[in-house]
Amino acid sequence: MNLKDLEVFNDSYERCSASPEFVARFYELFVASSPEVAEKFRHTDFRRQKRALRASLYLMMVAVQGYPEGVAHLERMADLHGAGAGKLDIGPHLYALWLDCLLRAVRESDPFFDDNVERAWKAVLTPGIEFMKARYEGREVELRGPE
Ligand code: HEM
Repeated sequence: MNLKDLEVFNDSYERCSASPEFVARFYELFVASSPEVAEKFRHTDFRRQKRALRASLYLMMVAVQGYPEGVAHLERMADLHGAGAGKLDIGPHLYALWLDCLLRAVRESDPFFDDNVERAWKAVLTPGIEFMKARYEGREVELRGPE
């Protein structure tokens, strides 16, 4: 990921956020993508969840730049989604589906969506995703920042 990716991601994130359908569409696609995902969200209050995800996507971008508030958020998300008593127990195999559904929602919500926009979303979110997967498996990882 480089600084251009951050700019392209941020502009696309803002266009998506202007669409009231964006996060709702993501959860519609994600919940329909696998029975395992649907099961995880069966008690979810989606009004609250949609707000939380919008903020979280922004904080993922802040985290990848190394800012403490973003890194603290990512640490909290990795812990919450982890294995063990009282946690969400989100296995690493579910993250590819998560990203795929998110990118489909971005494609539908961002009028300027193209290959470059898609690449920027992947570049910005992959370090956070890899961090969460590694934490689940009990591996210590460093968050990779901008090149
Ligand atoms: C990098 C990827 C992800 C991000 C940024 C993310 C973000 C979030 C956020 C912000 C919350 C709300 C936390 C809170 O209540 O304070 C949440 C909850 C949750 N996430 Fe994720 N998530 C990710 C991946 C996944 C994946 C792959 C799954 C697989 C099913 C998943 C399932 C859940 C569930 C079940 C909840 C709890 C919903 C509830 O409260 O009922 N997440 N996530």
